Amino acid sequence: MSDKATLEINGTSYEFPLVKGTENEIGIDIKTLRSVTGGVITIDPGYKNTGSCESAITFLDGEKGILRYRGYSIEDLAEKADFLEVAYLLIFGELPNAETLEKFHADIKKESLVDEEMKKIIDAFPKSAHPMGVIASLTSALTAFNPTSVNVDSEEAMYNAIVRILGKFPVLVAWTMRKRQGLPLEYGDTSLGYVENVLKMMFRKPNEEYVTNKVVLDALDKLLILHADHEQNCSTSTVRITGSSHAGLFVSLAAGISALWGPLHGGANQAVIEMLEAIKEDGGDTKKYMAKAKDKSDPFRLMGFGHRVYKNFDPRAKIIKKSADEVLSNLGVEDPVLDIAKGLEKEALEDQYFVDRKLYPNVDFYSGIIYRALGIPTEMFTVMFSLGRLPGWIAQWKEMRLGKEPIGRPRQIYTGETYRPFKTMDKR
Ligand code: SDX
Repeated sequence: MSDKATLEINGTSYEFPLVKGTENEIGIDIKTLRSVTGGVITIDPGYKNTGSCESAITFLDGEKGILRYRGYSIEDLAEKADFLEVAYLLIFGELPNAETLEKFHADIKKESLVDEEMKKIIDAFPKSAHPMGVIASLTSALTAFNPTSVNVDSEEAMYNAIVRILGKFPVLVAWTMRKRQGLPLEYGDTSLGYVENVLKMMFRKPNEEYVTNKVVLDALDKLLILHADHEQNCSTSTVRITGSSHAGLFVSLAAGISALWGPLHGGANQAVIEMLEAIKEDGGDTKKYMAKAKDKSDPFRLMGFGHRVYKNFDPRAKIIKKSADEVLSNLGVEDPVLDIAKGLEKEALEDQYFVDRKLYPNVDFYSGIIYRALGIPTEMFTVMFSLGRLPGWIAQWKEMRLGKEPIGRPRQIYTGETYRPFKTMDKR
């Protein structure tokens, strides 16, 4: 196979080198395109055909439904690893041994307090504030209390910023939920595992002992692993491009949280449950909602379905669907929306409109059913997504900064007015 691509413009041919990845993906390296052609650029709304970077962190094959973190399959990691191990793997590239993992966790625990002044910020929000807006603001505000985490040019400064956010973010997640519930904003318990501590911070009642439920712990640990990274999705690309200006890690993560909030992205997990609830209220009439999803004049979409990359089953959705059955039966929870979800999935998979467009359930379709069974409020679902995605965002930001990537600044094709002389008021 040739190692070059040839482009012909107005009778002139231009050659560009091909880049081949370790999974044999091919990219056309167009770094010189504008200079050799005298200004010609490419255009690709939504970057459906455009790679922003070379990355060694996560591999997806949308046609085959493959997802691997640093070469390990998502199925193996969800079954055999825990979330902190996967966080270490994503950020540093290798699965940690027992000693390395213990030191990593010890360094995180040292950073698991948050300045009490931060409570004044969360107090300023109305209880009705959406938790994603609160957590994005608190994450950005962390910079004010941790100024050394901004210019992380040395590996040591970067490591310190990383363990700092991994220690503090779960506290902010718990505070964001508890504030809405009128519960005291407390700290964790460093004698516990990472995810067990998250659960205790979120659910501990001030007037009773907290007892960990192993089913809940295992379910949340698995959900966080499944959400941990997903190559150059909308929010990760936001984290990378924000960090490319050398803005600090925490504000880059806050930008990613904001991008994740959108219902077309991480906000879909909340939208799925709201959609399933609406169908339940509507007497379970899934056919009506299928028709709405296919009606071009109706903005309604079947939330939790479709994906920019997966044109087959999202491997995470398969794992979550199986886990939803297990968790609900282990917890003795009956949730009618699970049956509605399964009915909707069956209908969609047999519907020509969905088959033609290769629309399958994605990671968000079943995750909310488990979050709900774990007692997590619907408006907190996307915050839980951001907790899972945190190590992936960190890993991608670190790779971008250590790779000394240039500041992200796309070009455009201008389609507005050409030059025109100024029009004085009397002539307008
Ligand atoms: C996440 O990128 C990632 O990796 C994201 C993520 C991650 O881990 O970071 O996997 C997490 O964001 C999962 C996606 C969650 N979003 C939703 O569930 C919202 C519903 N899905 C869609 O809005 C949509 O499928 C997207 C946004 C996910 C993908 O949109 P694309 O790739 O831009 O595809 P498109 O909008 O061009 O759709 C192609 C066709 C269109 O029909 P035609 O114009 O060809 O006739 O499929 C239709 C769309 O109208 N379509 C849907 C649909 N999704 C696409 N029709 C009905 N319901 C849907 N859900």
